[in-house]
Amino acid sequence: MDAQLNNRQWLYRRHPEGLVGPEHYELVTMPLATALSAGEVLVEARYWSVDPYMRINQSLKPTYNELPHALDTVQTAGVVGRVLASSVPGLTEGDWVEGMLGWQTHARVHHSVLRRLDPALAPPSTAIGVLGMPGRTAWFGLMESGAPKAGEVVVVSGAAGAVGSLVAQFALKNGCRVLGIAGGAAKCEWLRSRLGLTWAVDYKAHADTASLAEEIKALTGGVDVYFDNVGGWITDAVIPLINRRARIVICGAISQYSGGLDTPELGPRFLHHMLYQRATIQGMLARDYLHRMDEMLRVVGPMLQRGEIVFEETVVKGFENLPATLQSLFTSDHRGKLIVAAE
Ligand SMILES: NC(=O)c1ccc[n+]([C@@H]2O[C@H](COP(=O)([O-])OP(=O)(O)OC[C@H]3O[C@@H](n4cnc5c(N)ncnc54)[C@H](OP(=O)(O)O)[C@@H]3O)[C@@H](O)[C@H]2O)c1
Repeated sequence: MDAQLNNRQWLYRRHPEGLVGPEHYELVTMPLATALSAGEVLVEARYWSVDPYMRINQSLKPTYNELPHALDTVQTAGVVGRVLASSVPGLTEGDWVEGMLGWQTHARVHHSVLRRLDPALAPPSTAIGVLGMPGRTAWFGLMESGAPKAGEVVVVSGAAGAVGSLVAQFALKNGCRVLGIAGGAAKCEWLRSRLGLTWAVDYKAHADTASLAEEIKALTGGVDVYFDNVGGWITDAVIPLINRRARIVICGAISQYSGGLDTPELGPRFLHHMLYQRATIQGMLARDYLHRMDEMLRVVGPMLQRGEIVFEETVVKGFENLPATLQSLFTSDHRGKLIVAAE
């Protein structure tokens, strides 16, 4: 191997006011020395994740991180790659690994930040999807914060996405009746026919909160668990429909990320419904369950191998497409986990 290689990197250069996109990033090529110190591994990236949290981390207001993502640094991201060279016995050339290596084609890192993957058990790309952070979010968010019981009505917003499509399926496996909210007739048809959801509602077919609420109420009668990925007016429609002792899981609020976190709008007030129904509302973060990753893998891994879970991946080819693909999380119509592949 040459003493150094060309490492292509996407640097986060400018803070977006609204929608994030290619104009906020710059593609650079930097030399990377290939000589390894003790404990180091050289990785070539094959799949990069794009995730809504990237836009949260660009907010100028305090979020779950004290500071926003630093400008002029490589965009933080989950990555799946192959080992090019290793100084540790547990990893050898060709092994598949996952880690927070960022939007770059190569990384030389300490082995402790890598998770070794077994491609015989599941396609490696699933380590940034169903068997990675989104899977962990869906599993613990639903099972621990949502605590669904058989027969209950579970409503999931963002239901056709990476987290939502898994939450909906875990709820079905738990014996719940599940309503997914997603944008567009095609996504709703996919939710019903491929994922087997009890109901699917196209929020884009509704002009306002009242009309959306009316359809959800007519279908379900009331909501026991609301797993919220989007916030905003969709959530305003669901909250007044909660049943006694409902559990509301705040997983995300993607409708507010493109500027709304810095300059929030005030929406309709709904907290009085929490009082009437003695309901609970709980925010949950995937990072709080990192130490229980193996627990999730022991349950969800076999579900995958038995073919019980649909884990669709929308794959965009080409490292150069990363910022545009991040933008499309907020604008276009992928299903399941959106990832970028090297080829
Ligand atoms: N708490 C945690 O630790 C954690 C971890 C992972 C993800 N999350 C959150 O979970 C949510 C989903 O993340 P994901 O990775 O699974 O992404 P995803 O659902 O695969 O992709 C985002 C989807 O959000 C929907 N969307 C975008 N803008 C919207 C808007 N203005 N109004 C309504 N829907 C909109 C789009 O679906 P439609 O076409 O159906 O509108 C889009 O496909 C995000 O809010 C994210 O921040 C939280």
